[in-house]
Amino acid sequence: MKSTIRVLIIGDIVGVVGRMMLQKHLSSLKEKYSIDATIVNGENSNNNGRGITSRIANSLKHMGVDVITTGNHVWDQSDIFEHMRSNTNVIRPANFPSECPGSGVTTFKCQGVEIAVVNVQGRVFMREDLDCPFKAVDTILSYLKHKTNIIIVDMHAEATAEKICFAYYLDGRVSCVVGTHTHVPTADERVMPKGTAYVTDLGMGGALNSSIGMKAAPMIERFKTQMPSRFLVETEPPFIMTGVWVEIDTKTGKAIQIQRVKVIDEELRADE
Ligand SMILES: [Fe+2]
Ligand SMILES: [Fe+2]
Repeated sequence: MKSTIRVLIIGDIVGVVGRMMLQKHLSSLKEKYSIDATIVNGENSNNNGRGITSRIANSLKHMGVDVITTGNHVWDQSDIFEHMRSNTNVIRPANFPSECPGSGVTTFKCQGVEIAVVNVQGRVFMREDLDCPFKAVDTILSYLKHKTNIIIVDMHAEATAEKICFAYYLDGRVSCVVGTHTHVPTADERVMPKGTAYVTDLGMGGALNSSIGMKAAPMIERFKTQMPSRFLVETEPPFIMTGVWVEIDTKTGKAIQIQRVKVIDEELRADE
């Protein structure tokens, strides 16, 4: 068993552009930073930026992704329901109703160690009728502690304060808390006092000149007119992919360091 492992965690993958960035850059990132395991948020990885399909989940796995987390867009493609009933590599927020397909937690083996991944969704400026994410994670940790102390949590949420408070709530109890959903990477990565690595948002994989991966013009129209408009994935280059890698002590489950990762690709074209 290795004494430390490194886990790469990438933010929301948006459409074909985000998937192409993963395909092109994941193996070199793994090599560059000696990565042992990879987690990405896939809630926007379908071509139209909404949801994820079984085919896409399988292709991300093929690219070298160990676990795919999601969020509020998880059910946008109904094709994923069945996949999540029979596969454990895609998870959805644990504080969704228990009748939903899939699970909010999964574990996998890597370098002889068991790694757990937990997904929860925030409630501030989002659906308020979800179960409490704090209580949901408490329940999960009470049974995970018999299995492993290497635990990565994706807190899919809008409000920075909710994410930060959630992370401090878990400080010393999990290896790492990462925020997703805003698609904008934050520069506040740190190892908190009791040994949990944290960043408020990982960012995304998608077009740089976009509004959170989507074409800005229809969104500007909606902000100006309050009229509905069709949101389309931006496919014009350059493309970006952001996240973090975290080094974890496999004995204690505590984080040693967290570093931001950012790839900008000027050459890649979406029609390739
Ligand atoms: Fe997203
Ligand atoms: Fe989201």
